[in-house]
Amino acid sequence: MAIKRIGVVGSGIMGAGVAEVAASSGFEVVLRSRSRTGADAMLAGLDASLARQVKKGRIDDDRAAEVRARVNAVTALDELAACDLVLESIVEDLATKQDLFRDLDRVCTPSAILATNTSTLPVVEMAMVTQRPERVCGIHFFNPAPAMALVELVPALTTSDDVLAEARGFVEACGKTAVTVKDQAGFVVNALLFPYLNNAVRLFDAGVASRDDIDAAMKGGCNFPMGPLELLDLVGLDTSLAILDALYAEFHEPNFAPAPLLRRMVAAQRLGRKTGAGFYDYSR
Ligand SMILES: NC(=O)c1ccc[n+]([C@@H]2O[C@H](COP(=O)([O-])OP(=O)(O)OC[C@H]3O[C@@H](n4cnc5c(N)ncnc54)[C@H](O)[C@@H]3O)[C@@H](O)[C@H]2O)c1
Repeated sequence: MAIKRIGVVGSGIMGAGVAEVAASSGFEVVLRSRSRTGADAMLAGLDASLARQVKKGRIDDDRAAEVRARVNAVTALDELAACDLVLESIVEDLATKQDLFRDLDRVCTPSAILATNTSTLPVVEMAMVTQRPERVCGIHFFNPAPAMALVELVPALTTSDDVLAEARGFVEACGKTAVTVKDQAGFVVNALLFPYLNNAVRLFDAGVASRDDIDAAMKGGCNFPMGPLELLDLVGLDTSLAILDALYAEFHEPNFAPAPLLRRMVAAQRLGRKTGAGFYDYSR
């Protein structure tokens, strides 16, 4: 089956990023947001990103217009009916994702692949609420999707080999490198990354070093492009907390137990860049 039209559900950080990647790679994209405001904000973000690329000389005006014309932002889920592959990028909550998979299963053609961008949740539990568990898999892009080279492909126990191959074809057509990972919490990258990020919050909370010094230490000492507290702000503290909760629920390892400060910051809606404040202040 040739994948031509991609549906993306969710217009947050990852939905917007994946829509841009897919459209830039020649796919028709239908992005579904729950509200017109969300859909318009996503389109405004895409326009701004394309304008930045034109300014930097990476693409010309014609190419930017072509990419923009491939993206249709909608609010009704039914508009995804003609998509060959739908990738959901909504909030990291299993019950919410399962409700969406039930709806997608009803709306999309039986041949469509339904995929999740989850960072940690069991793909099989989304697959099993549909009538097509063999056509569901995880396609885990990284943030920011247009810049990051890697995608983790996550076949559930139910995913067919054909569907995995088609998902790999899509990822490679997007210019990304795919690694295949078993359906267990955190896959490879987040299983290794999140204990580190969590421990950075613990060090900060214990007053071992200041925010700036913790970030400077890991950039200068390990050559990481970003410090851990900056990275948490980029990922989103709510998403980070959900990832740690899922890792802890699966493995019960102390390193996955979320630092209390992280939970308090989420309660205070200090979610990082997306709310204008996290460990850093982005309001100015
Ligand atoms: N942020 C990252 O670094 C990152 C990286 C890779 C994968 N992911 C995964 O991508 C998914 C989305 O994360 P994000 O960072 O884009 O989050 P985000 O907070 O930026 O966006 C979440 C989106 O979900 C929508 N949403 C919230 N509640 C909903 C509901 N009840 N029903 C339908 N839609 C709802 C919101 O309106 C928003 O569009 C998550 O599964 C996350 O684990 C995130």
